[in-house]
Amino acid sequence: MIKLRLLFLFAPALSSAVSIVLSNDDGWAEKNIRVFYDALVASGQNVLISAPAIDRSGTGSTDATPVQLGSSGCEFSSCPGGAPAIGNNASEPRLNYVNAYPVTAMRYGIQNLSQTILGGPPDLAVSGFNVGGNAGGTVLISGTVGAASEAAKEGVPAIAFSGATGSQVGWQTTTETYQKVYADLSSNVTNTLIKAGKPYLPDGIWLNVNYPSVSDKTCSSASSFVFVLSRINSGSGNDVKTCGSTTLPSESQVIKAGCYASISVAYAANKTDASIDSQKFVVDKLGSYLGCLS
Ligand SMILES: *[C@@H]1O[C@H](CO)[C@@H](O)[C@H](O)[C@H]1NC(C)=O
Ligand SMILES: *[C@@H]1O[C@H](CO)[C@@H](O)[C@H](O)[C@H]1NC(C)=O
Ligand SMILES: *[C@@H]1O[C@H](CO)[C@@H](O)[C@H](O)[C@H]1NC(C)=O
Ligand SMILES: *[C@@H]1O[C@H](CO)[C@@H](O)[C@H](O)[C@H]1NC(C)=O
Repeated sequence: MIKLRLLFLFAPALSSAVSIVLSNDDGWAEKNIRVFYDALVASGQNVLISAPAIDRSGTGSTDATPVQLGSSGCEFSSCPGGAPAIGNNASEPRLNYVNAYPVTAMRYGIQNLSQTILGGPPDLAVSGFNVGGNAGGTVLISGTVGAASEAAKEGVPAIAFSGATGSQVGWQTTTETYQKVYADLSSNVTNTLIKAGKPYLPDGIWLNVNYPSVSDKTCSSASSFVFVLSRINSGSGNDVKTCGSTTLPSESQVIKAGCYASISVAYAANKTDASIDSQKFVVDKLGSYLGCLS
C-alpha cells in the first residue's frame, strides 16, 4: 500500500501532447503521410491528417471550394467514386481528405477539424513528407510547401518536409527503408522544436526541410544524418553566423554533401528566405541539434 502510494507520488507528470495538423500534396492515402502520421502518434503527439483526396503535386498555393469526387474516387481507391467533397476514414476519423488543394485541406484541418478532433486549435502544422525534393525555386510550385505556408499565414508555426527517394504509392504498401528514415528524421526534428518550447517559430515563418536519397546502403538510418541550416535562394553575407560563416549553404549544396538534411527559414508571405532575426531564432531553438557540413 505504502509502496504504491510512493510510486504514485513520484510518478513523473504525464507530458502533455502537442496538437498537430498534418497535410501534404501527394494525397491523404499516399504512404509517406501515413508513415509520418504513425511516427508522430508513436511519439505521443495529438495528430490529425487533413490532405487532398487525390494527388495535387505542383499546385503551389492554389485554393478552391472542395467538390464531390469524380467517378474514379480518391487516389489508390481510398474512397469510392462520387464520394462527398470532404470525408474521413470511418474507423480512423483522424484521417481526413478534402477534395481540393493542399492549401484548402490545411486550412480546413486548422479551422474546422482541429477543434473537434484535437480539442482546440493546433499548436503546430506539418506537411509531407513530400515524394521528391522541394529545394530552391521548387518551393514556389510545391503544394506541400503551399500547405505549410498557408498554416503559417494562419498563425500556426509550420514545417514542410520533402525526401528525394521514392514514388507515389498507396498506404497499404510495405514500409520501405527510406520512408522509415524520413519519418524518423521528420518526427525527431518536430519533437526537438516542440521540446524547445513555445513560441516554436516567429509569426509568419515556416521551415523547409529536404532530405537526400536514402537506400539500404546509403544514409540508411536516421542516426546517420545531420541537420544543417540552409538558404532557399542564393545570397551572400547576410545570414546568421553559423559554422563560421555569414553565408548559409544552399539547400542543394547541403543535400548533395552526403547524409545531411537541409533546413531553411522562410516567409509564408512569399516563400523566400527569412531575415537574420528569424534565422537566429531557429538557431537558438535547435541549438546543437544543428550541425555543419564537414
Ligand atoms: C481506414 O482505417 C482502417 C482501420 O485502421 C484501415 O484498415 C484502412 O486501410 C483505412 N483506409 C484508409 C483509406 O485510410
Ligand atoms: C470552416 O470553419 C470556418 C471558420 O469557422 C467557417 O467559416 C466555414 O464555414 C467552415 N467550413 C466548413 C466546410 O464547415
Ligand atoms: C532524436 O533522435 C536521437 C537519436 O537519433 C535521440 O537521441 C533523440 O532523443 C531524438 N530527439 C527527439 C526529440 O525525439
Ligand atoms: C517577403 O515577405 C516578407 C514578409 O512580409 C518581407 O519582409 C520581405 O521583404 C519579402 N521579400 C520579398 C523578396 O518579397
